Amino acid sequence: MPFENLAFDVHDRVATIRVNRPDKLNALNDETIAELDEAMALVERRDDVAGVLITGAGTKAFVAGADIAELSRQGPTDGQARARTGQAAFSRIESCPKPVIAAVNGFALGGGCELAMACHIRIAADTAKFGQPELKLGITPGYGGTQRLARLVGKGRALQLLLTCEMIDAAEAYRIGLVNKVVPAAELPGEAERMLRQIIAFGPLAVALCIEAVNRGDDLPLDAGLELEASYFGLLSATADMHEGMQAFLEKRAARFSGR
Ligand code: COA
Repeated sequence: MPFENLAFDVHDRVATIRVNRPDKLNALNDETIAELDEAMALVERRDDVAGVLITGAGTKAFVAGADIAELSRQGPTDGQARARTGQAAFSRIESCPKPVIAAVNGFALGGGCELAMACHIRIAADTAKFGQPELKLGITPGYGGTQRLARLVGKGRALQLLLTCEMIDAAEAYRIGLVNKVVPAAELPGEAERMLRQIIAFGPLAVALCIEAVNRGDDLPLDAGLELEASYFGLLSATADMHEGMQAFLEKRAARFSGR
C-alpha cells in the first residue's frame, strides 16, 4: 500500500515503518499520524507480519516532533481533537499484539519521543537525542508524553525533562530507563532487527498475551493484575504452542511454534 509520508515494507515477517519527511526532520503532520495509524492497522491484519520496526528516514532524526507549522494554526477545539487523534494512533502501537521496536536513529523530540515511548522496546543510536520541548512552544505534550514518560522513568525524572525542556543524549536516556539499549549508529538497524527476530521466533499467542498483560497491568491494582496473569497463563496452556515449547525443551531441540 503506498503511503505519502511513510516507507512501509515487509521482509521475511518483519515490517519496517520509516517516517519519511527528512527535509522536515520527519515531523509528524496530521497526514503522517493518519498513515501511521493505517500502517499499524495493516500490520495487525497481515498474517505475513510478525513484528514491526519503527524508525526515521535519514541519519539526523527519528522524529523531531509534531509538525509545528500545523500546530501553530490550531485553536482549542482542533487542538484537543489533534491530541486525541495522535493519542489513539500511538495507543494502537502500544496495544499491538505483535512486538513493536523503535529504532531511534536521531532526534526524538516531542511527538518523536512520544512515538518511541508508545513502542514496546526502544533501541537508540549513540547519536540519538531525546526531549519533550513542548513548554518552549507554550503547550504541553499531547500525544501521551505526560503519561508515558512518568510511567517509564518515574515522576521526578519525567517532570525534570518536561519542565526544563532540556535534551538528553542516548547514554542519559539509557541511564534513566527511557531506552532499553544504545548501540553505535551504524549498528542500529541490525541490532533492532536482531532483537525483533529473537522475539518473533517465539509463539505469537504467548507474545501477544505477554504484551497485553504488561499493558493492562499498568492500570490495575496488583491483585487484579495477578488475576489477569493467571488467566492468560491458563489460557496459553490450551495451545499447541505450549505443548511444542515444552516438548522441544524435554527433547533438547529447537521449538517450532505454529501460532495455534
Ligand atoms: N515541525 C515542523 N518542522 C520542523 C520540526 C517540527 N517539529 N522540526 C524540524 N523542522 C523543520 C525545520 O523547520 C526545518 O525546515 P526548513 O528547512 O524548511 O526551515 C527543517 O526541519 C530542519 O530543521 P532545522 O531546525 O533547520 O535543523 P537544526 O539541525 O538546526 O535543528 C532541531 C534541529 C531538532 C534542534 C530543531 O529542528 C528543533 O528544535 N525542532 C523542533 C523540535 C520540537 O520543538 N519538537 C516538539 C514539537 S511539539
